[in-house]
Amino acid sequence: MQRRPRERRPGAGIALGAVSLSACQTDQSALHPASDPARETAALFWWLGGGGAVVWLVVMGITVYAVLGRRRPSTEAFADRFILVGGVVFPTVVLAVLLVIGLRLLPANGAAAAWRVHVTGEQFWWRIVYELPSGRQVETANRLLLPLGEEVELHLTAHDVIHSFWIPPLGGKLDMIPGRTNLLRIRPTATGTFRGVCAEFCGMSHALMAFEATVVPPEDFAQWLAAEAAPAAPADPAAFRRAGCGACHRVRGLVEEGGVGPDLTHLADRATLAAGTLPMTRAALARWIDDPQAIKPDARMPGYADLAAPEREAILDFLMALK
Ligand code: CUA
Repeated sequence: MQRRPRERRPGAGIALGAVSLSACQTDQSALHPASDPARETAALFWWLGGGGAVVWLVVMGITVYAVLGRRRPSTEAFADRFILVGGVVFPTVVLAVLLVIGLRLLPANGAAAAWRVHVTGEQFWWRIVYELPSGRQVETANRLLLPLGEEVELHLTAHDVIHSFWIPPLGGKLDMIPGRTNLLRIRPTATGTFRGVCAEFCGMSHALMAFEATVVPPEDFAQWLAAEAAPAAPADPAAFRRAGCGACHRVRGLVEEGGVGPDLTHLADRATLAAGTLPMTRAALARWIDDPQAIKPDARMPGYADLAAPEREAILDFLMALK
């Protein structure tokens, strides 16, 4: 009999997939926790996942034994006990233990957090307002810096529709609901840059609202916050005003009327544009101003493709100077 060539096994593909998955990025992984609450959530996942796997193995073992095992004479009393233990006692004990483990993770009402940050979900970006110890509020957008080892209380809400705030390595996701403020406390335990996302469908560009959450040592955080609180670098906002940009965007110290759109005070210092959609470069900024809808469908900002070239360049000069 002729041997047929060996068929490709799906197992090989699965193994390959597993290997490539193990090299996954960790900046958006809930299984690589970098804060207290995230560590507890990851631990809960492993406890529940492990508990579920053990129960599954036991049930499968019994099922296989029942189908394939050799028949043995059993008394009725044995059958009754088996059902009582396997069907009542065992699940009760396992579920009670898992419930206690889960309940222990409920957040405690601790002392006041060191920092308070207000984050508002918008279509489709993040309004971020830091509260300074003096009570003064400092607004920025789409970038969250957090101090290592210090507790931060995030006040989450929304203006338009329901969004959901989620930085997987730093904490569980929490809905942002118009007219309501949800509190999320985070104490980061590792420095690094993590990717935050919106986890609730909120419109056409739901998948295009991301932000960078960076954990830095407390000294660097204090330095950054002081710089962020300062007014914008001196620059000429005349073209920006003429085009009407100031009706929506505020640039602290230079253009103070707007406030509907993202604050642009230190725009050129940010790593990304349009809530994590584009790199922060002059070319990307020009593309964005020309036609925001082409990059982010349903974004509220109108396109400015018909601006005269010198006006456009003057606006770009101004924005790129906002360090
Ligand atoms: Cu905001 Cu989805």
